[in-house]
Amino acid sequence: MSIYESYAPIYDAIGQGSFAEDLTRHILASAPAPPRRALDLACGTGAAALALAESGVRVIGVDRSREMLRIARARSRDRGMSVRWVAADIRRLSLSPAARGALRPASFDLVTCLYDSLNYLGAHEDLAAVCSGVARLLRPGGRFVFDLNTVYEFDSWDDTDQVVFDSPDLLVYNRLSYDVERRIARGRIVWFVREIERWYRGEELHEERSWEDAEVRAALGDAGLSLVARHTPQWEPAPAEAPRVVYDCVRG
Ligand SMILES: C[S@@+](CC[C@H](N)C(=O)[O-])C[C@H]1O[C@@H](n2cnc3c(N)ncnc32)[C@H](O)[C@@H]1O
Repeated sequence: MSIYESYAPIYDAIGQGSFAEDLTRHILASAPAPPRRALDLACGTGAAALALAESGVRVIGVDRSREMLRIARARSRDRGMSVRWVAADIRRLSLSPAARGALRPASFDLVTCLYDSLNYLGAHEDLAAVCSGVARLLRPGGRFVFDLNTVYEFDSWDDTDQVVFDSPDLLVYNRLSYDVERRIARGRIVWFVREIERWYRGEELHEERSWEDAEVRAALGDAGLSLVARHTPQWEPAPAEAPRVVYDCVRG
């Protein structure tokens, strides 16, 4: 069953985009020169892409979820912003006619992929394909910034229900668990939304893979991308056992 489709309006309603908005501020503040053209991979409902566009960057957002993109498009239209939204799988950008038409090689100053979107990749080949696609699209010296949940985060996923949002019209809870052997984390997201006099229930099952730091560095290196720094989301140096790491990289 596809994910981020029926959940898309809930994701947006409960403010899940704020993580990427905050991180985008750190990315822009730490840029040696303001980026002119940026690509936001797995852009979701547009949190980072819209924050970049607001600061004057020309942005393209790519996601495979039509519903996430529908919301992103409506948000940019409501704010009078011109962001280009492309429906494509980030593992196969060069095979997608829509992405190929929009994404010129070596034309981007910045590529982002935020809020653990790369944890959704299931196999080494997927990570390698994303990294080589990014290297192809960045200009030499261009920057690639992404964040990952680490095993130290997933180890705390203890199979209990956690209410993450509770309002008179919407209740959302997650049951998070981690399979250590398979290195697969599961998030069962359940929501109840009230529409006039009735409550509707929705559910999606999300799977994330835990990537070891060495695997990430190898995929970056093989693609010709150099790791510059590992940050926490608050832009401090990331300790070895950080639950989430922001990788700040450059195309050599
Ligand atoms: C946690 S959301 C993050 C969205 C956005 N970056 C943000 O920070 O709000 C993960 C997003 O990754 C997208 N995604 C996951 N795997 C993808 C893939 N292979 N190709 C394109 N999009 C993907 C999902 O559709 C979803 O919108």
